[in-house]
Amino acid sequence: MFSLKGKTVVVTGGAKGIGRGISLAMARCGAQVVVSGRDAQALDAVAAQLRALDVEALTVQGDITRADDRQRLIQATLERFGVINGWINNAGSAAPSDVGPLDTIDEGQWDRVVDLNLKAAFFAAQAAARSMTQGGSIVNISSRSASYPNPGTGHYGAAKAALENLTRTMAAEWGHRGIRVNAVAPGVVMTDELAKVFNTESRIRRQVETVPLQRLGTPDDIGPLCAYLVSDESSWTSGALIPVNGGSFVPMGYLGYLHRVNAQGNNT
Ligand SMILES: NC(=O)c1ccc[n+]([C@@H]2O[C@H](COP(=O)([O-])OP(=O)(O)OC[C@H]3O[C@@H](n4cnc5c(N)ncnc54)[C@H](OP(=O)(O)O)[C@@H]3O)[C@@H](O)[C@H]2O)c1
Repeated sequence: MFSLKGKTVVVTGGAKGIGRGISLAMARCGAQVVVSGRDAQALDAVAAQLRALDVEALTVQGDITRADDRQRLIQATLERFGVINGWINNAGSAAPSDVGPLDTIDEGQWDRVVDLNLKAAFFAAQAAARSMTQGGSIVNISSRSASYPNPGTGHYGAAKAALENLTRTMAAEWGHRGIRVNAVAPGVVMTDELAKVFNTESRIRRQVETVPLQRLGTPDDIGPLCAYLVSDESSWTSGALIPVNGGSFVPMGYLGYLHRVNAQGNNT
C-alpha cells in the first residue's frame, strides 16, 4: 500500500538476520537503502540482493559502538543521497559469552551488552536526529525481553527496556522537529545466529508451544512494520512500542529457567 520511493533509509546491522529482512523490506517498498555492519562479506552480499530489487544501495563498514564509525555512516549517507529519512537502529545482540545469571555477570559482559544495545543505539539515534533537518523517522529495534524477566540475559533485557523508555523521550523531545521515534519489539525470530542456540527439534518445539500463532518469527516478519513506520502513512505514529511476536508474551529462557530450578528442587 505505501511507497518509500525517494526516501533514504539507514539500517544498522542490516546485512544479517532481522536487519537483513528490514533492508529487503525497505527495498521492496522502493527506498534507497544504506546498510552498516562490521562484516564486509555480508555487506557485499546484501548490497547485491538490494540492487537486484532495483534500488540504490550503499554499504558502510563500521562498528556502531564507535562514535567515529557512527559519524562516518551519517557522512557517507548524506554525501551519497543528501538526506536521511529513516533510521533503523537494529544492530544489537548479546554474545553467548556475555550472558549468564545475574549473580555471575561481570562488568566487561555488562559493558559489552549495554554499550551495543543501549548506548550505541541512543547515540546513533541522536546523530541521525541531528541530521534530519527536514524531519524523519527513527525505529529502535527492541525486544520482548524489554518487558519481562529474562533469566540468563537480564542485562540485555534491561538495556532494551531503557531503549524503549528513551524511545518515548526521543519522541517527546524531537516531535516538534518532525522526527517520529518508535520501537518494535520482536519475539523469537529464527536467524542464523539463533539457529545455533535452537539447534534441536525439542528446543524449537518448546519455543513454538509458547506462540499462539504456532510458529517462530522469520526476518521477513519484522521488516514490513519498519517500512510502515518510515512511510508517510504512519505520520501520526510516534512514541509507540509495538510487539511483533506471534501473540507470545513468554520470554525466551523464562520457562526453561523455572523448569530447571524446579527440577533441581532449589527454591533459594
Ligand atoms: N532474533 C531474535 O529473536 C530477536 C528477538 C528480539 C529482538 N531482537 C533484536 O533484533 C536486532 C537484530 O537481531 P538479530 O537476531 O537479527 O541478530 P544477529 O543475527 O546476531 O545480527 C546482529 C546484527 O547486528 C550487527 N552488529 C552487531 N554488533 C555490531 C556492532 N558492534 N557494530 C555494527 N553492527 C553490529 C551484526 O552485523 P556484523 O556482524 O556485520 O557487525 C548483524 O547484522 C537486535 O537489536 C536484537 O536485539 C532479536
